[in-house]
Amino acid sequence: MAKITVKTNGPYLVEGVTIVDGEGRPFPLEAGKPVALCRCGASAHKPFCDGTHIKVGFRSEDTETPARAK
Ligand code: FES
Repeated sequence: MAKITVKTNGPYLVEGVTIVDGEGRPFPLEAGKPVALCRCGASAHKPFCDGTHIKVGFRSEDTETPARAK
């Protein structure tokens, strides 16, 4: 079963899925390990998180919907 964990001030942690590019080709990922997808937009290795969210001071509450933020 797929699971997506929305990390506070960080990426989406994705488990149990295959991630493909725009041509439908799967990214080579280690089976059974969660993958961090960039949520801040600053990663140099999109769609994956490379930790840049820390350098840019990404704050997740800035991207949450009003109903979810409070
Ligand atoms: S969320 Fe980590 S680099 Fe964007």
